[in-house]
Parts: sequence; C-alpha cells; structure tokens
Amino acid sequence: MEVVKQLEQLRTTRRKCSDPFGLVPTMGYLHEGHLSLVRCAMSECASVGVSIFVNPTQFGPNEDLTAYPRDLERDLSLLSAEGVDLVWIPEVEGLYPPGDPTWVDVEGLTEYLEGAKRSGHFRGVTTVVAKLFNAFQPTKAYFGQKDAQQARVIQRMTEDLLLPIEIVICPIVREVDGLAMSSRNSYLNPEQRQAATVLWRALGHAGSLYDAGERNAGNLREGMLDVLNAEPLARVQYVSV
Ligand code: PAF
Repeated sequence: MEVVKQLEQLRTTRRKCSDPFGLVPTMGYLHEGHLSLVRCAMSECASVGVSIFVNPTQFGPNEDLTAYPRDLERDLSLLSAEGVDLVWIPEVEGLYPPGDPTWVDVEGLTEYLEGAKRSGHFRGVTTVVAKLFNAFQPTKAYFGQKDAQQARVIQRMTEDLLLPIEIVICPIVREVDGLAMSSRNSYLNPEQRQAATVLWRALGHAGSLYDAGERNAGNLREGMLDVLNAEPLARVQYVSV
C-alpha cells in the first residue's frame, strides 16, 4: 500500500494503478461503515484509493473541527489489511492553496434538511469531493447511505459537472443495537450512547406504521416525533419522509 502526502506523488502513483479505479473519500477514524465501502470498491475495481482528510471547509464556526477524532496509525493498518493500493493524506494547504478560494456549490438540494441547519456545509463537501475527484481521477467513487443528502448532492454535482465517475451508494452499517456507525459516536458517554438508539427506534416505528398501511407522510413524521420526544436526551432538529 502506497501512502502519499503530496499531490504530485499521488498523481505518479495513481498512473501506475490499473483501471477501473475505485475511490473511497473519508475523514479518517475509520469504522466498519468505511471498511464496507472499501470492500465494495475492492470487489468492483482493479485498484482502490482512499483519502483521509478532515476537511475544514465543511465544518461551521461552532462545529467540531478541532475535536474531530483522529487515529492515522490505526486507519493505515486497517486499510493495509483490506489490501488498499493507495492512500492520500493531503495537507490543508495542498487542497486549499492560499488566496481567494474556488467553490463548487450545488444549489436547491443543499438548501433544506442538513443544509438548512449547517450553513456552508455542503459547499465544503462538494468543493473537497470535486478536488479529490480531479486528483484521483477515479472510475467509481463510494459513499455511505447514512449521509443520504450528501450522497444525493454528490451525485448531482457529478452529473452537472459532466464528470465521468460512477457514484456508488452503499448501505448503512449499524451497531448491534441499531445505531448507525459514525466516527462521531465516539463523542457519546454511555448514557448518551444508549439514548442515541432512539434514532433507530423512531425509524423502526415509522417502518411498522408503513407496514400496517400508513401512507400519509405527516402521520409517519408524527409517529417518529412521538418516539423521539419520549427520549429526554434527544433534541429534534428535523424529521423527514
Ligand atoms: O462523508 C464524509 O466523510 C465527508 O463528508 C467526505 C465525503 C469525505 C468529504 O470530506
């Protein structure tokens, strides 16, 4: 496995990799969700690259950029065990040269749900993903269904910029109690970790209502809100069907 920092090193190593080439962009602190993307890429591509970069532009001023968990040594050992060919760990200045920046911004789709709560978040995501796509020139790129709006926004960006890259969306990987795996789960203390299963329980409740014949989106949302509001540690930002 080649681990590189500089763009030129990445380009040289990438040229030696066979196509189809699969890219898994990550912010590191890898878990089974990331590894499921890597495994999917390995099964579909002749070579696979992973980027590890905690992208500052997708964090708001009051978000967790400095606290975001990092463990590069562990990440590299996990990726090596999976048989990944190439890992890029760029520096911030490597992806964001000093001076006025260029942004990639998908309109419309980014204005509601997560986008309404996190101003500028998706602009940071699409800008960095466009840069990663240009640097790696992958045939396919792999993202998780957990970040459903992000996945759709990246698909739209890829279509609109006429990029010859297939976006593959892989299923959510959950802990045994249903909580979706996320690097940020490491922030939770045991009480919060237990409470966080309310997300899965609320979704399950909506699923049961649906299976029982409910087709009114407002009623499905109300059902989920009932479950979420019964959890004292939960603060609802949005519920959508
Ligand atoms: O989903 C993530 O981990 C990040 O948003 C991504 C796609 C790697 C861009 O920084």
